[in-house]
Amino acid sequence: MGRLAFIAMTQEQFPNSELFDKIVNLSKRRGIVYPSAEIYGGFRSTYDYGPVGVLMLRNVKDAWWRSMVQLRHDVVGLDASILGPPAVWEASGHLSNFSDPLVDCKECGARHREDKLEDPNVCPTCGNTGTFTEARQFNLMFKTQAGPVEDTAAVAYLRPETAQGMFINFANVLYTSRKKPPFGIAQIGKSFRNEITPGNFVFRTREFEQMEMEFFVPPAEASEWYSYWCDKRFNWYVEHGMTEANIRLRPHGDDELSHYSSGTSDVEFLFPWGWDELEGIANRGNFDLTQHMEHSGTKLEFFDQAANERYIPHVIEPAAGATRTMMAFLMDAYHEEQVNDDTRVVLKLHPRLAPFKLAVLPLSKKPELIGPATELYEHLAEHWMCDFDQTQAIGKRYRRQDEIGTPYCVTFDFDSLDDNAVTVRDRDTMEQVRLPIAELQAWLSERLP
Ligand code: GAP
Repeated sequence: MGRLAFIAMTQEQFPNSELFDKIVNLSKRRGIVYPSAEIYGGFRSTYDYGPVGVLMLRNVKDAWWRSMVQLRHDVVGLDASILGPPAVWEASGHLSNFSDPLVDCKECGARHREDKLEDPNVCPTCGNTGTFTEARQFNLMFKTQAGPVEDTAAVAYLRPETAQGMFINFANVLYTSRKKPPFGIAQIGKSFRNEITPGNFVFRTREFEQMEMEFFVPPAEASEWYSYWCDKRFNWYVEHGMTEANIRLRPHGDDELSHYSSGTSDVEFLFPWGWDELEGIANRGNFDLTQHMEHSGTKLEFFDQAANERYIPHVIEPAAGATRTMMAFLMDAYHEEQVNDDTRVVLKLHPRLAPFKLAVLPLSKKPELIGPATELYEHLAEHWMCDFDQTQAIGKRYRRQDEIGTPYCVTFDFDSLDDNAVTVRDRDTMEQVRLPIAELQAWLSERLP
């Protein structure tokens, strides 16, 4: 079997627009991601996750939650509100600082982020030189109103990050969970940014999901925990099947650091357009708690009884994008293989991330097979997310499952009625084994999360 795959991606292959197009097409064709409001001509930079995509996105988030919350006694979860009052964003600095420099091309009217221009004098839309306006700062926050009457309604903002919900609940969580530093608060949820240049499919959108954790530590332990979380987060991607050659940890240079950060590293993935950010791990010092303490007048400190001292904890923040991470896993898992005269597309996803863990396929639509195959499906669906597919020839059904990364296909055929056994096909090797139905659950339990 020959491989056409994108396994050994190298910098020389970039930009790899072919892979990018294939992922976008596969996403549409197999119900992973659709452009939003398509029947109305679409709405730029918004996407809907289809029947397969919603499962995969949920699996990415569940895998993060499992590793960050479930398996740790020192991290607790939170689900804070998306709408917030201006006071939160004044304190966090987002109202004054969360902006990008924007320039307009006087020739064609296109707007660009000045800091993202390849050549600061050339408009990438029309190619004209020296036609840009002076840069002005454009705030990325989405502003809205809370209340029915426009004049008196309170101004509210959609959160541009989930992080602030964790800072403003620091005291609540500290007292109710009885944790003490070092401990973390984790949250997954939607964030909104009025990006000037959204693009690259779900990489940069105006509405997206984040997976963030704020880890509160005694100040003297901050740099040790920063290294710990850089390693831990890098390894999370590798443990979930990401090819090591396609991922790297890049420490920020001094010129990239925010004024309060004493260290930030990005986990970067080799996207079809080159290396780009998946997640940032930042040593934020006590900036956020101090800001909220000053603006709200509420003490956001920890009293260490043993040392008889009061301090504002420092924060290490691993902040990842769920939607962006799902896209990276999709790209990394995408393989094309030559099978006889055919090209097989297969998503070699880690079973934990695979949308369906298995598919039950009755060989024919005859009722004598559909009945017991449905019963088998109902039994297995109690344990795993299963697909059930009775349409088309079995070979085509296998290929369909390969394309959405289903690790195992279980075929119920006419012999199954007599020998009470089924054929199980492995996604990656395409090998098939015959297993007694009575042993199937135990066999799968050894291989599936
Ligand atoms: N609390 C820190 C923070 O929000 P960030 O680097 O701005 O840091 C964290 O965002 C992660 O959120 C990014 O690494 C990225 O994966 C994701 N993200 C940020 N903006 C995004 C956007 N417009 N579309 C999709 N994902 C985005």
